[in-house]
Amino acid sequence: MIYDNIPILKSIKEYWDTQSIPFHMPGHKRGKIFKKLGLDYLMENLIEMDTTEVPGVDNLHSPEEAIKEAQELAAKAFGADHTFFLVNGTTSGIYAMILSATKPGDKILIPRNAHRSVVSGTILGRLHPVYMMPEIDQYMEIAMGIKPATVEKALEQNPDASAVLVTNPTYYGACSDIEKIAGIVHKKGKLLLVDEAHGSHFIFHPKLPISAMEAGADMVAQSTHKTLTSMTGSSMLHVREGRVDIEKVKFYLQLIQTTSPSHVMLASLDLARYIMEEYGYKLLDDCIKYSNWTRDEINSKSPLYCLGQDRKNIYGIHDIDPTRITVCLKGIDLRGFKADEILRSRYNIQVEMSDFWNIVAITSIADDESSYKKFCQALLNMQSDVEENISITEQGYPIHTPECIMAPYEALNHEKEYIEIEKSPGHISAEMVVPYPPGIPIIMPGEYIQKDIVEYLRQCVDTGMKISGTSDPKLRKIKVLK
Ligand SMILES: Cc1ncc(COP(=O)(O)O)c(C=O)c1O
Repeated sequence: MIYDNIPILKSIKEYWDTQSIPFHMPGHKRGKIFKKLGLDYLMENLIEMDTTEVPGVDNLHSPEEAIKEAQELAAKAFGADHTFFLVNGTTSGIYAMILSATKPGDKILIPRNAHRSVVSGTILGRLHPVYMMPEIDQYMEIAMGIKPATVEKALEQNPDASAVLVTNPTYYGACSDIEKIAGIVHKKGKLLLVDEAHGSHFIFHPKLPISAMEAGADMVAQSTHKTLTSMTGSSMLHVREGRVDIEKVKFYLQLIQTTSPSHVMLASLDLARYIMEEYGYKLLDDCIKYSNWTRDEINSKSPLYCLGQDRKNIYGIHDIDPTRITVCLKGIDLRGFKADEILRSRYNIQVEMSDFWNIVAITSIADDESSYKKFCQALLNMQSDVEENISITEQGYPIHTPECIMAPYEALNHEKEYIEIEKSPGHISAEMVVPYPPGIPIIMPGEYIQKDIVEYLRQCVDTGMKISGTSDPKLRKIKVLK
């Protein structure tokens, strides 16, 4: 078979062949949205149309024609003064936001559970991150919003910080009070940067949470490929004029991004904006309606819990994205990982992500009623499907942030060694350790490892919790500074 010698093509073909129901990104859901709108002819012959910058095809790094026009149209649609198209995901937008808002040695306030691209941005910028602790939902055991008071206190304690970055919404769909946070940050004369990777659809429907641009943020990076319909890896960076040095943003975008951007990806960003302007309201209306129906069915007919508006105003949650279906399976003692596998193997449904107790399904304007119905029925059946119940000891997450001896970028440039985890108390970590739940790094590079943290991590491994960020996922050893 030819595919056996082309393993990546084989892997995506095999997944395609399953024709599973995709409750994951990208939001175009296998191109379904283009068929639904009768626009699939626009996406034909994409490989033949793949091109470099020939005359008439604009240059991403000095746009004067089509890309300039498309970015201006996007800025208008997304409520920004300037929009930059990205071909290396929101990750590149986050790097550009952080690097343009700071200089080496600066402090930046970030949530302790920030996406790894935020931490990487602080390493690239040789910055000193100061962590703000998000609120933890004690039932779902996940990190939710950041309270405005937490931001205010962090700014009072760090008046020399250059910028504040917040994640809005979280992967699970929880939004913080960005309007209030923007007011606090701007009053102190700082920049507000928002990782809105999961919120590019917000501005297109009044029933959705306020978008960070509308709420007053200075720069916002959005994964248009996650909740809208552009191709995987294509994103947008939106900028508000006033406090931001636009030329510095452009400089860093050139530095970070390839000089050979895919014009097919850029065109998919342009088309995503067009679709939202032409059809977005009605399509989102349906998406919200079916997502809410699914949520109500799960919450009223099963012991499962689907995150919804009832959590508003607790755990730092200002609003909830109704299109994000986050289901907690604690009520039937079933791990999220197991539910994920059951959905895949028995129902041919693939969700976006699972953690210890929860699964996260990404819905989009491409989904149709029958997909929601199948997903909902599978979850309602879940209780009778469970063969082996599990019970785990409730673990207390050590909420304190360990003492920071040096910034992550300094730790990464230090000599390192691997030692057994039991021997690590008293050493300085050279890696990030993130137990799920709640997905908050328990140790960052440059932080002092304490005994209670090692004990907690041992329990996490024993109960089968996922540990991410470490070179040894079983955490027998850990990388520390020599
Ligand atoms: C909260 C958050 N921020 C940033 C990113 C990075 O986005 P991208 O994959 O578009 O680079 C992700 C990706 O999953 C994310 O979940």
